[in-house]
Amino acid sequence: MKLTYFGHSCFQIEVNGKNLLFDPFITPNELAKEVDVNAIIPDYILCSHAHQDHTADVALFAAKKQATVIGIWELAAYYQKMGLKTHPMNIGGTWQFDFGNLKMVQAAHSSSFVDGAYAGNPAGFFLNNNQVCLYYSGDTALMAEMSLWKELYKPNFAILPIGDNFTMNAEEAAIAAQMLGVKKVLGVHYDTFGYITINKESAMVHFTNKGIDLILLAPGNTIEI
Ligand code: NI
Ligand code: MN
Repeated sequence: MKLTYFGHSCFQIEVNGKNLLFDPFITPNELAKEVDVNAIIPDYILCSHAHQDHTADVALFAAKKQATVIGIWELAAYYQKMGLKTHPMNIGGTWQFDFGNLKMVQAAHSSSFVDGAYAGNPAGFFLNNNQVCLYYSGDTALMAEMSLWKELYKPNFAILPIGDNFTMNAEEAAIAAQMLGVKKVLGVHYDTFGYITINKESAMVHFTNKGIDLILLAPGNTIEI
């Protein structure tokens, strides 16, 4: 899998010839202004929840290639009503897509659209292509379930929020990584707004103390996982 980071909690995964765009929030993000949005043509758009900082650019990218929006039932229904192609899921459910196996899990957060529309529960995803099992938590607090997911899904890479205030902080994300059994974490959901400004050096220390690699990418950077 190839991962390209676009700032905040937005990133693209290339897997089995498909482009999966997660939590699109690029055009309103000052820190992502160098990202070339024209070069991003997703086949699927995955939404962890409906907050504006995860969905602002859903319609923009969905229009390009009739991308399929994947999200929890109520979130998918909202986009279906707008005329977008959707694949609704719900917590605990798995579906074999053409890009791999996707499971939706719970997140400890909240979720509603900017217009106040109900968006169901917030979610996280496990994406498995038989080589890599990647976990993206979405916005969440630290949860005891993460230990269970280590046993059940054996993830080898995690994408976790580290910005505090709206989600867990770096210290808790390092504990989450330990509970999940992953040795590599991409940190997201930090520095975008005043509420989530962090000290990157001290964030790193929480992970290195546990022998875990915290990866922090500049928007536009790509890694192989
Ligand atoms: Ni949120
Ligand atoms: Mn958020």
